[in-house]
Amino acid sequence: MAVRKAIILCAGEGTRLRPLSFSVPKHLMSVAGQPLLGWILEALSEAGIEQVGVITPPQEEAIREFVADGAAWGMSATYLVQPEPLGLAHAVKCARDFLDDDAFLMYLGDNALEQSLGEFIDEFERSEADATVLVKQVDDPRQYGVVEMRDGQVAGLVEKPPDPPSNLAIVGVYVFQPAILEAIDRIAPSARGEYEITDAIQQLLDDGGKVMAHELTGFWEDAAAPPDLLRINRFYLDRLDLAVHGLINEASSTEGAIGIGVGTQVTNCALSGPCRVGNDSVLANSDIGPSVSIGNNCRVVGAKLRNCIVEDGTCIENFPGGIVDSVIGRQVSLQGDGCCSQPTRVIVGDMCRIETTGR
Ligand code: G1P
Repeated sequence: MAVRKAIILCAGEGTRLRPLSFSVPKHLMSVAGQPLLGWILEALSEAGIEQVGVITPPQEEAIREFVADGAAWGMSATYLVQPEPLGLAHAVKCARDFLDDDAFLMYLGDNALEQSLGEFIDEFERSEADATVLVKQVDDPRQYGVVEMRDGQVAGLVEKPPDPPSNLAIVGVYVFQPAILEAIDRIAPSARGEYEITDAIQQLLDDGGKVMAHELTGFWEDAAAPPDLLRINRFYLDRLDLAVHGLINEASSTEGAIGIGVGTQVTNCALSGPCRVGNDSVLANSDIGPSVSIGNNCRVVGAKLRNCIVEDGTCIENFPGGIVDSVIGRQVSLQGDGCCSQPTRVIVGDMCRIETTGR
């Protein structure tokens, strides 16, 4: 059965991304110039997905506004509500009408990974499996679902095992035949009170189903906390075709891959790539990059920035000691006193105002 449908799970709360996630769902956090969800939709579209079901909590608006009808990615989008956060398998159940009797791909909306989803789907289609999970070798798999392999197939799965049977963690991308829905109906909640998709896949196995795993060797990160977002930002920055559309004056220097948006002016700056700046921003007397992503309508003057995400409409002035490893939300004002020679690390939510006095 050809896989043309996907669900993206966007119901998680993002508590470890607070305060950033108070005003923006974690799936819409900006990485390398666009929301994480935008990167996911691009990957699904490239893999030939035609219909996407986006699963959100009740009363969610920002995600609907961003994805709209899906046409920007050449897909049709449907919204499905998970009334309570009762687990990944429960989320799939909430998508039952949308899924109908079709095979589908399931993508956890906070995951970024280096894997052609088209290849993953092709392998699933060829294998005639009931489910294929993406897995990756990790040093400590105890915080993930873990698979145990036998003769090239999955022989068992367990969620967050204290004593893992292997180092193969389940990455947040799966492909299923519709039989998974019956398996979901037969599982009980786990110790953390959730209907686990891992348990439902184990149920498929117990029913005599065939489960395969595809090992991912490249990048994988789920955006649980700010350092994860910064790693995802760097990952996509490295893959972007960056180009200069704005103005960089002669007294500025550039090194590595630099992207400067339309209407942005760079004056007397040292830029080191990868570094991407959006449109209509002003950068002056600053030392910026590597691994920096700055949004639209920002202003950075007299500052050093390394490994940072700065979102739209934010102003940073007088930080010669530098701002490092930081995520700064929208319309923030960070005013330094120009004296501090030590780097500062900040995680600042939207619309905050911070001034240092130097006293
Ligand atoms: C979920 C899954 C787990 C998987 C992980 C990947 O865990 O239950 O099997 O390894 O996503 O990100 P959660 O993020 O709900 O703890």
